[in-house]
Amino acid sequence: MTAPRPKRPRAAGLAPLNDPLDAGASAGHPSLCPHPFPWRIFGAEPKLEPMLHSALINVMVKAARRAGRSLKRDLGEIEHLQVSLKGPANFVSLADKRAEEMLYDDLTKARPGYGFIGEEGGAREGADKSHTWIVDPLDGTTNFLHGIPQFAISIALQREGTLIAGVIYNPANDELYIAERGKGAFLNDQRIRVAGRRRLDECVIACSLPHIGRGDHELSREEMTAIQTKVAGLRRFGAASLDLAFVAAGRLDGYWERNLQQWDIAAGQIVVREAGGIVSGIAGDDDPLKTGNVICGNEFVHAELVKILKPLEK
Ligand code: IPD
Ligand code: CA
Ligand code: CA
Repeated sequence: MTAPRPKRPRAAGLAPLNDPLDAGASAGHPSLCPHPFPWRIFGAEPKLEPMLHSALINVMVKAARRAGRSLKRDLGEIEHLQVSLKGPANFVSLADKRAEEMLYDDLTKARPGYGFIGEEGGAREGADKSHTWIVDPLDGTTNFLHGIPQFAISIALQREGTLIAGVIYNPANDELYIAERGKGAFLNDQRIRVAGRRRLDECVIACSLPHIGRGDHELSREEMTAIQTKVAGLRRFGAASLDLAFVAAGRLDGYWERNLQQWDIAAGQIVVREAGGIVSGIAGDDDPLKTGNVICGNEFVHAELVKILKPLEK
């Protein structure tokens, strides 16, 4: 007879949730589950109770979905513009700005006075100095411009300098990642955990490939060579927020990138941490929001990536 599995404690304020990870997890540790969504392989998706989010998360999700509808309409248009000689670049920059204004309007209407830092409009101060939204209205612009459905809206909230909530939404496939400090991380209302692999040669890791005229291309090649020889696969997806979200969901085992901005990382950082992962800069214990560099994964993968990448820093 097998002993009953202990119930995982539920965060206050959340409705009871039939946690699918419990069903597939081994030895009570969900991150040891070989696939974060076992029903995708074996079928029989579990019936879930609708989840109740906090008022704060509801505000962020509503804003992300409205801006997401706008980006999705624009994505449809871009597919036509690809064939024109002028290309969709100007159109995309308008789509980007429009999405940011929608987010600014919705977030500041719901939480008047909070500060707002957006990629397009920069920093806008509010009367409330302790709260700041950090927003990328379109992360993965190059993908969006080419009609590649790997892009997202990324919204984080900082209170007194600490990240307290993050939402990342890809309107192209309707995947919504949310996390609130101390309450776990979720993908479309299902709890997510970082993957549990402890051998680098079984790990799939994401990285960046700096664009023309940006970053240190030589260092990037050295880093890639060093990692490539030790892992099962290296990937470059092109939207930092989703790279972080994929680590949180256990799709990727780890990810590193340099020269990012706070709006690329802020929401992803809390999503990964709430999914049980470690996020730092290249030094291993520094703050990615300050350095713009990021390494993440489970405890083991994070430490291994730091061990390889830190000595390469010039
Ligand atoms: C970019 C993406 C990309 C990363 C770049 C970012 P953007 O953001 O996150 O994955 O490699 O460094 O600037 O410009 O598409 O919002
Ligand atoms: Ca970005
Ligand atoms: Ca952007």
